[in-house]
Formats: sequence, structure tokens, C-alpha cells
Amino acid sequence: MKVVLLGPPGAGKGTLAAAIKDGLNLLHISTGDILRAEMKGGTPLGLEAKRYVESGGLVPDELVTRLVENKLKNCGGTTNGYLLDGFPRTVQQAEDLDKILSTMKTQVDCALYMEATLPVVLQRLTGRRVCKSCGAVFHVTNMPSQKEGVCDKCGGELYQRADDKEETIKNRMDVYVKSTSPIIEFYNKQNKLKKVNADKESQEVKEMALRILKNG
Ligand code: AP5
Repeated sequence: MKVVLLGPPGAGKGTLAAAIKDGLNLLHISTGDILRAEMKGGTPLGLEAKRYVESGGLVPDELVTRLVENKLKNCGGTTNGYLLDGFPRTVQQAEDLDKILSTMKTQVDCALYMEATLPVVLQRLTGRRVCKSCGAVFHVTNMPSQKEGVCDKCGGELYQRADDKEETIKNRMDVYVKSTSPIIEFYNKQNKLKKVNADKESQEVKEMALRILKNG
């Protein structure tokens, strides 16, 4: 199963992917996580990506698409497929993904659109905290860690992403509306679009998503 997770920043794409990937035996491929790992490692790619990511802009299409292509071609057959989180993010990326998958004799099966309203995503983004060591995601009120500032999973330190500052969130939302939201129509035309109400609490979102992915 090849699934694209669509939705605005803070809709809960990463949270949903983490919650369902093991049960469905799907690989979670998050371009945001890959780019942040490159930035942390100070690689040439990370250095180039940093200025786009931290300002809330988009990393150039060809750079991200190459990253995803490598990942898809090297992920082997150990899972039932993958959940693409944060990719594609422009119509160009969506077209390129179709081309890459067709060379691999496969295609996207479902684009799951996580519909969420602005006040909800703003509350989620400003309160998000991420583990520096394992990348686990928490929220100061919605999904707090047991001990403030400490990851429940590995004991690592929790931090606020640089792009989760209010001034950068505004730019990310503008970029989403202008460049990413047209992808919804792209998948609608292919009859692959399914929607979940991502304003709901995480367990309900997970159940809705699983129903869709298991039953079509
Ligand atoms: P990326 O990391 O992909 O950021 P994003 O799309 O803005 O998505 P987020 O990670 O912010 O949100 P999410 O929907 O995963 O929400 P989460 O589950 O964490 O990309 C970052 C940057 O990298 C981009 O701005 C760009 O510069 C670059 N980039 C990445 N991909 C690119 C591409 N393809 N092309 C070009 N550039 C690219 O949840 C948010 C919070 O809410 C958490 O605290 C969570 O605990 C909480 N929460 C989640 N669900 C619920 C719920 N149901 N109820 C209550 N709280 C919830």
C-alpha cells in the first residue's frame, strides 16, 4: 500500500504515521524528518536546506524529489509499502512521484487528506515539542510527556522546532495554501483522495484513517 498523507502543517501527519505504521507494516517516510536529520548532521544537503526550512519556505523540488527517489528505490521489500509524509508538496513533486513510481511499475494507492482548521493547527504547532534524540512528538497540553521536557520513549531532551515560532508558522501556512493545497485536486482527479477530519482527537483520527486504509 502506497499512501500519501496530505494536510496543513500541524494537521497531525507525523503523529498519525507513527500511530499506524507498525500495525500496517508500512515504512514512514517524512521529508521533514529527513531534512532535519541532514541539517543536524551538517551535511551539504542539510546546509542548503536549512535556510528554506527555518524560514518556512519550500526546499527546491529537484532536491527533495531526488531524496525521496533514493529512499523509495532503496527501501527494499521488507514492508507492505509506505506512508509518505510531507511529500509531495507541490504539483510538480506529485507529477514527479507518479513518474518515479511508474518506472518502478507501481503507483500511489491513496492520498489521505487530513483536513484541519486554522485555530486547531496553530494551537498544535505552537505547543509541539520534539525529542532531540529519537524524534518522538509531544504537545505541551494535548499529548504531554510524563516529565516536562523529557521524552517518555528514550529520556532525550524535548525542544521546540525552529519553524514552530509564530512568525514562521504564518509563512508555512501561506506556502501551504499557495503551493501544496492544489495537490488535493490533483489526487481528487485521480480518484485517490480520501478525507479525515483531523480536528478530532488523535485516537479518533487514527480509527477513521485505519477504516479508510483497510476498507478503501
Ligand atoms: P514537515 O516536517 O513536513 O512539516 P509540516 O508539513 O509543516 O508538518 P508538521 O511536521 O509541522 O505537522 P504534522 O502534520 O506532521 O503534525 P504533527 O503530527 O507533528 O516539513 C518541515 C519543512 O521541511 C517545510 O516547511 C519545508 O521547508 C521542508 N520540506 C519538507 N518536505 C518538503 C517537500 N516535499 N518539499 C519542499 N520542502 C519540504 O502534530 C503537530 C502537533 O499536534 C504535535 O505536537 C502533536 O502532538 C499534536 N497533535 C497531532 N495530532 C493531534 C490530534 N489529533 N489532537 C491533538 N493534538 C494532536
